[in-house]
Amino acid sequence: MEEGKRRILIVDDNPEFTKPLEGFLELVGFQVSIARDGHTALSKLLFDPPEIVLLDLKLPDISGMEALESIKKIEADVGVIVITGHGGEQAGVDFMEAGALDFLSKPIDYGVLRGKINRTLKTRDAEARDRQFKRYSSQEPFFPFLARKIRDPLQAIIGALGLIQTHSHPKDGFFDQSIRIIEEEIGYLDDFVQGCLDFIHPPTERLFEEIDVNELISFALEKVSHMVDSLCPKISITTRLDPQLPKVRGKYDEIKRTMVNLLRNGFEAMPEGGTFTLTTGFLSDPPPGWVEIVFADTGTGIKEDDMKKLFIPFFTTKTRGSGLGLVICKRIIMEGHRGTIQIVSEEGKGTTVTVRLPVTLPSNLA
Ligand SMILES: Nc1ncnc2c1ncn2[C@@H]1O[C@H](COP(=O)(O)OP(=O)(O)OP(=O)(O)O)[C@@H](O)[C@H]1O
Ligand SMILES: [Mg+2]
Repeated sequence: MEEGKRRILIVDDNPEFTKPLEGFLELVGFQVSIARDGHTALSKLLFDPPEIVLLDLKLPDISGMEALESIKKIEADVGVIVITGHGGEQAGVDFMEAGALDFLSKPIDYGVLRGKINRTLKTRDAEARDRQFKRYSSQEPFFPFLARKIRDPLQAIIGALGLIQTHSHPKDGFFDQSIRIIEEEIGYLDDFVQGCLDFIHPPTERLFEEIDVNELISFALEKVSHMVDSLCPKISITTRLDPQLPKVRGKYDEIKRTMVNLLRNGFEAMPEGGTFTLTTGFLSDPPPGWVEIVFADTGTGIKEDDMKKLFIPFFTTKTRGSGLGLVICKRIIMEGHRGTIQIVSEEGKGTTVTVRLPVTLPSNLA
């Protein structure tokens, strides 16, 4: 992903059409990626959403309408321009009724296309802002209220627990174990409440700073080791941290939170033990350069069916999960830092999560 550039995904299986179009769009300053079929387009949308999709209606695997509906479901904040065949005006109108923002018939006049892209970007940006506001404003009053209702009694329980611990003599194994269970449950509830608050809160206003990712990861690893200390003895951790890693511009606490979530997911996927490998590295290409962090576990892996649900709020397969970890990661890494998250998994073998953070940020963010 390139600094400050608006992103366009072309969905079309014909290289003779996409090649010159890609060249033109890059020339006028867009960052372009291409999907040759509907499924590739949907996975690109999931992991690296563009702002505009140019969608050809004739795809080799799924129908244009199916593609449009799935695109809007996965990423409502994308502006779709439909490309119809020669004389396909009626189809274009039908697709606009189904959520596309504009259409254009082949053969394409690049000047007209450019105008349509600019208009679509404006509409898409305004709609995305509205949606974000609605999303937060509808949930915002409820979650803090709920959080208070849970946290106030939790504080009272923690206080009472302290008193019980101080005044109880003698203490035996049963007593200690019960106290530990209560403490764990309190921790779980507290984390859940925090997760809900992080989920609804717009990104913090805190300023971006220079971050040493290697150092941040070491802190995150230490934190997670305390959180899941019962799992740690069974897990062997290998770290390969690039000593030459450049700093990235980012919000320290937010990035640390994502590292903690991803480390924790990896640890939790290995209840019987396994190996966790954490690697950092620098990629100079494409500009502006990227710090890559790879979290690889040899845990349970993810079912194929679940792969597309990972970024849906509250999706969890854990009895004690809130299903917000990855959603929060996506918001922080992709929306807040223009980075990418890619998850590759094989059931029974393990999961590899790759996060890339740009070393510099678009001027409208930083
Ligand atoms: N490394 C992994 N290995 C296996 N499954 C994973 C991994 N990471 C995520 N998952 C799957 O994705 C689901 C969603 O993960 P996510 O982190 O969003 O929520 P969670 O871990 O269930 O709950 P929490 O909000 O407490 O993090 C998990 O329940 C799990 O099924
Ligand atoms: Mg999680």
